Amino acid sequence: MIFNKLRINNITLNNRVVVGPMCQYSAENSKPSKWHFNHLKKLSQLGAGALIFESTFPSQDARISKKDLVLSNNKDLKFFKDIVNDIKKLSKIPLGFQISHAGKKGSSHIPWEKFNSPLSKKDGVWKTYAPSAIRRDRYWPIPFELNLKKINKIKKDFVNSAKLSNKSGFDILELHMAHGYLLHQFFSPISNQRNDQYGGTLSKRANLLLEIASDLRKIWPKDKVLGARVTADDCLKNGITINDCLYLVNELKNIGFDYVTPASGGIIPFTKKKIRPCYQVKYCSVLKKKVNIKVYANGMIRTEKEINNIISNKYADFVAVSKPFINDPYWLYKIGNNNKKSLQIDKQYHRCF
Ligand SMILES: Cc1cc2nc3c(=O)[nH]c(=O)nc-3n(C[C@H](O)[C@H](O)[C@H](O)COP(=O)(O)O)c2cc1C
Repeated sequence: MIFNKLRINNITLNNRVVVGPMCQYSAENSKPSKWHFNHLKKLSQLGAGALIFESTFPSQDARISKKDLVLSNNKDLKFFKDIVNDIKKLSKIPLGFQISHAGKKGSSHIPWEKFNSPLSKKDGVWKTYAPSAIRRDRYWPIPFELNLKKINKIKKDFVNSAKLSNKSGFDILELHMAHGYLLHQFFSPISNQRNDQYGGTLSKRANLLLEIASDLRKIWPKDKVLGARVTADDCLKNGITINDCLYLVNELKNIGFDYVTPASGGIIPFTKKKIRPCYQVKYCSVLKKKVNIKVYANGMIRTEKEINNIISNKYADFVAVSKPFINDPYWLYKIGNNNKKSLQIDKQYHRCF
């Protein structure tokens, strides 16, 4: 149930709720800023079983916006080490590093300046790449089709960044293959119309995702945790379905991934996706039934009852919750009144709950 511990390899989650990744668009020169230090330290003290940092990118041209985090060299490493060490002085919470490449969703405005909008020349646009030269949407530029040389460079960048995240002290590595970013662009027939080894059939569209996954498995320590955010449903005619996702997750399991978390929509700005309570749990239950891999559910999961229902019915092993940790930071403390141990409520706060 919600307050049961969960051990994966050598990492123990004190309970079944993790803080999901949330981009802050607040990096300074692509490095964690004072905002990140403050924001992440706060999130580390809210009782969750793990904290996954926002999407971080393996190179400058992989970013979504100018204000995203990049981990690509020893200068960046120093900042990430500092932030991990700072949090670990306050909290024993396991920390996750989410690695992503924006592909054609890159070179965008930060959302509160212009939502879902590409940079123009005067804003300092950069070249974006994708499996095929297909626009994201009407007002988006045509991305450059990736050639094999550039694909190999991207694979190396992922490995380099993942190695640095390990050196920074992260416990969990999550490979982002969803939300319309580069690896999702390769997986989805909506955005991938290649006819080489990276496009065409389902297995070819999955090739790059699985090659990067295998590369990460080789360098990520076995005693830590390795997972992926996958797309279970494009919510579009001719898009990815749960059966495609099952193929991908089976392969990830064979490679040695510890967990997946399914997402939906995102390959174009508007799809038939309907957001309602626990809307992605249905994908988790299929993955759990058919593949022997840990699954966490995410997406509008809000109550103790919902979480207990998900865990006790084995729809998923744990859940991620994002927005509530911002708009009602102590929600988990409130429902965990009798579970001070599993929440690791700091003793300074014991009398307050
Ligand atoms: C501000 C914000 C930033 C987000 N950034 C990321 C991100 O970096 N990586 C990711 O996979 N999901 C990201 N998400 C999606 C969340 O992790 C989560 O899946 C989504 O908000 C649904 O969960 P919730 O209903 O509990 O908020 C973001 C969501 C929000 C609200």
